[in-house]
Amino acid sequence: MSLVLPSDPVPPVLLHVAQLTMRFGGLTAVSDVTFYALDRQITAIIGPNGAGKTTLFNCLTGFYRPTSGSLRLHRGDERIELAGQSAHHTARLGLARTFQNIRLFGTMTVLENLLVAQHRHLMRASGYSVAGLLGFASWKRAEKAALDKAAMWLERMGLRAVANRPAGQLPYGLQRRLEIARAMCTDPCLLCLDEPAAGLNPHESAELRALLADIRDDYKIGILLIEHDMSVVMEISDAIIVLDYGKKIAAGTPDEIRNDPAVVRAYLGEPDEEAA
Ligand SMILES: Nc1ncnc2c1ncn2[C@@H]1O[C@H](COP(=O)(O)OP(=O)(O)O)[C@@H](O)[C@H]1O
Ligand SMILES: [Mg+2]
Repeated sequence: MSLVLPSDPVPPVLLHVAQLTMRFGGLTAVSDVTFYALDRQITAIIGPNGAGKTTLFNCLTGFYRPTSGSLRLHRGDERIELAGQSAHHTARLGLARTFQNIRLFGTMTVLENLLVAQHRHLMRASGYSVAGLLGFASWKRAEKAALDKAAMWLERMGLRAVANRPAGQLPYGLQRRLEIARAMCTDPCLLCLDEPAAGLNPHESAELRALLADIRDDYKIGILLIEHDMSVVMEISDAIIVLDYGKKIAAGTPDEIRNDPAVVRAYLGEPDEEAA
């Protein structure tokens, strides 16, 4: 719950998306979108299917080079342009993401998935050499730290009992949780989640709400959350950005968004396909 007292300092900007546009041939998937995401806050991105949410993530995390505009990461006084960087580079800068369709290493165990996520730290500690892998004290330390971190996330996510099972054999809800654990094992400054509640039952969805709020508060990182489940969005978001046909049509607090006529029209007022 985001109770803001007058004495609370406003968190600094973490990400500034400015006039972002992404075209695929004649289709403009993201159209001149500008917003700020603050550090230590959950910023939700909502909108009907095809609104451009995943495309925005793909621009942010180096999967697409935007047609125009910028995505600036603020780190202290540093401003780092993310547009056009590789996925590898954005990960190094502290962006971690999950995917709308789960992408785990299905044949690796749960624990192995968490260790692979930390591969970069381990390779650095090895000095990128075989000798390093075989003996250096820094490698041993890094390996121990990687195992400790993996163990901590297994525990926190309730995955300890399934640590040695192949990830692909887990029930869907646990796979979703493992994806988040894997992203957190990279020590991100900005966690980008693409529909993490999709396919979860109401109980799992309630657990996810609590988990995301805890991650924000305990790790003091920013979270960008694409989500259709309004029970998740409205309860834990500090700010909400609404996209429709690639354009930003509203931005505000959950209360502001709930009562925004344009949003109700474009999104919340949509006939529910499942109910129909
Ligand atoms: N690689 C691509 N090539 C062509 N069109 C794409 C590509 N990725 C997304 N689109 C189109 O861009 C629009 C926005 O898609 P997307 O960002 O996935 O929407 P959302 O995640 O909000 O449902 C859709 O019309 C989609 O078909
Ligand atoms: Mg999507």
